[in-house]
Amino acid sequence: MEMDECLYYDRGKSYKLGIAGNCSDREEIMDQLKTGEVIYKRRRELELTQNQLAKLLNISFQAVSKWENGTAYPDIEMLPKLAAALHTTVDALLGYESVVTDYDKRYNTEEYYWGLTPNRICYDIMKILPPVKPYRVLDIGCGEGKDAVFFAKCGYAVTAFDISEQGIEKAKKLAEYNKAEVSFFKADLFDYRPEGEYDIIFSSGVLHFMQENRRKELCDSLKAHTADGGINAMNVFVKKPFIKRAPDSTRDESKRHPWYSGELFGYYHDWLFHICREEVFDCNSGGKPHKHCMDTLIAQKVGE
Ligand SMILES: C[S@@+](CC[C@H](N)C(=O)[O-])C[C@H]1O[C@@H](n2cnc3c(N)ncnc32)[C@H](O)[C@@H]1O
Repeated sequence: MEMDECLYYDRGKSYKLGIAGNCSDREEIMDQLKTGEVIYKRRRELELTQNQLAKLLNISFQAVSKWENGTAYPDIEMLPKLAAALHTTVDALLGYESVVTDYDKRYNTEEYYWGLTPNRICYDIMKILPPVKPYRVLDIGCGEGKDAVFFAKCGYAVTAFDISEQGIEKAKKLAEYNKAEVSFFKADLFDYRPEGEYDIIFSSGVLHFMQENRRKELCDSLKAHTADGGINAMNVFVKKPFIKRAPDSTRDESKRHPWYSGELFGYYHDWLFHICREEVFDCNSGGKPHKHCMDTLIAQKVGE
């Protein structure tokens, strides 16, 4: 990831300007924010040794030790990778742990905002790769976890993340209630890139938070981290001049970047398409009827 890219996301954080300044500014800011303490705390929570974390990052354990005792600072370019290895966000590493998203507010109720019925795309995925073995699933932007828990109950090995702390907490509760095992963690799609390989990479109703100029890079990364024969299954909101903004749109929603009709299909032109559909549908989220247009793709990586 380019440094500029990782610093200039439109997320309205004041650290953007400070860090874009010179190195001593950056070190001062990181010092104030006690990045080393955050690294230490997260590493211990994940029960990783300094050596194990160093191996994940391809660096020496001495470097990790220096970060943790505050005598050195991770390079800017290292932050997204470090955040991913520690299952956290760059915001959290920089001390912005208490960022509350609009989704946090929506999820801060007993009820499940999106209900508990799995997305129909889950059943489409199961038809293509039924759980004859524990296929590895990654659910990007899992919300309150209904789809991730459904997959786990069906026998898949599921990893799932969302930027909403509240969502992840509810997802964990749902998994516990269903006696399902899911590796849930909080992460920001902007920082996170998969480390290993997955058989199924899935994302529903999330990728419109990604700006247009970063979407090809995202899809390329997801494709590269998909095992041969594996699938990527996602849906994206699509702009149409005749569909108005949803009435329950909130501040986060105003950061939506709907995709162009067919754009998603283009990024997967070299994969086998199982489902490639565009539809306009009615929605009642927030209790107010409105419409959306959505492109859905399930594509499979097929070797030559
Ligand atoms: C429409 S909801 C979909 C939730 C879930 N996939 C589902 O279908 O129930 C969008 C989700 O994207 C998450 N999200 C938004 N921006 C994100 C980001 N930058 N990184 C990770 N998740 C994000 C929100 O917290 C929210 O849970």
